Amino acid sequence: MSSVMDRILKFAKNSRKKIALPEASEERNLKAAEFSHKNGIAEIILIGNEEEIRNKASEINVNISGIKIIEPQKSEFFESYVEYFFNLRKSKGITYENAKDMIIDPVYFGTMMVKMKDADGMVSGAIHSTGDLLRPALQIIKTAPGISIVSSCFIMELQDKTLGDNGIMLFADCAINPNPNAEELASIAVATASTAKSLCKIEPRIAMLSFSTKGSAEHEFVTKVREATKLAKEKAPDLLIDGELQLDAAIIPEVAKLKAPGSSVAGKANILIFPELQSGNIGYKLVQRIAKANCIGPVSQGFAAPVNDLSRGCSVEDIINVIAITALQAE
Ligand code: ACO
Repeated sequence: MSSVMDRILKFAKNSRKKIALPEASEERNLKAAEFSHKNGIAEIILIGNEEEIRNKASEINVNISGIKIIEPQKSEFFESYVEYFFNLRKSKGITYENAKDMIIDPVYFGTMMVKMKDADGMVSGAIHSTGDLLRPALQIIKTAPGISIVSSCFIMELQDKTLGDNGIMLFADCAINPNPNAEELASIAVATASTAKSLCKIEPRIAMLSFSTKGSAEHEFVTKVREATKLAKEKAPDLLIDGELQLDAAIIPEVAKLKAPGSSVAGKANILIFPELQSGNIGYKLVQRIAKANCIGPVSQGFAAPVNDLSRGCSVEDIINVIAITALQAE
């Protein structure tokens, strides 16, 4: 068990948050629900067709007694959720009938549960794509007050404990925003600093990554990162943020001395902000697969209430971990 997850799981056990699982008849979800319920990690709410859920649970020998099951159409909340969703989205061309059809979908229903505070958070994505999970949450839950963009980060537990904070680093955005502009990139940096403090209890040292260090190259891509660094410093003057930095200058002290002397971040960064999603997504997977790092996430950041995505290749343990993270974010 990782030290970060160990602490998050302990916290979740004391918080007793209500976490909705809308992929409830899927095997890994059912096993994670059973474990989380049995070990007090969260009060699980399974959303979906009750008969299907019970049949699947008994087929795979999973005990779900004591776990709440909600079938959208039969739920006491259904009509009020449809009404709310219709009013929220009618300006986007949604009819009442469309709204009904959408709220029958367990992911939309679960998102509405979180919005209406009938659940504290939701975890999904073992069978849905990132877009299918996030779109309803972006439409319904939206961003927290004062936050302009939802993003995500990975908590990376590296084998090399000399890097980051005893091997802990955060990478962002590796899962949501395809091509953030400078302002959005600055917001991602500030949001990731909050996640580092709240979930990992580390003091952020943020590197804004590029293929250039401090003017070594000129290109519009570099200009964006430089501008984002300036904006992030303005947004959060107390944070240690530096850029633009190449990866080696960000994390290797000897390279930092040569390329970015005097930087408060270079050579010791524990948060890496990637310039866009291709480098972020490829970057975290490289470190996961080649350097054998343990990756926790993607952890969503910036939503008004927590909704977290899973990888379709996730394990039962990954789902349990994300349930615990979601409980902590709901605090
Ligand atoms: N923050 C806040 N609001 C947002 C964001 C954001 N980052 N992105 C979109 N929105 C809002 C829009 O303003 C819009 O609001 P409105 O409908 O009320 O006007 C709503 O969300 C829907 O926006 P769309 O543009 O219709 O949604 P889109 O189709 O772009 O979907 C999504 C957004 C799903 C996040 C998209 O950007 C996406 O697919 N990103 C990449 C996801 C992905 O494939 N990641 C890699 C795999 S994950 C992994 O490997 C772990």
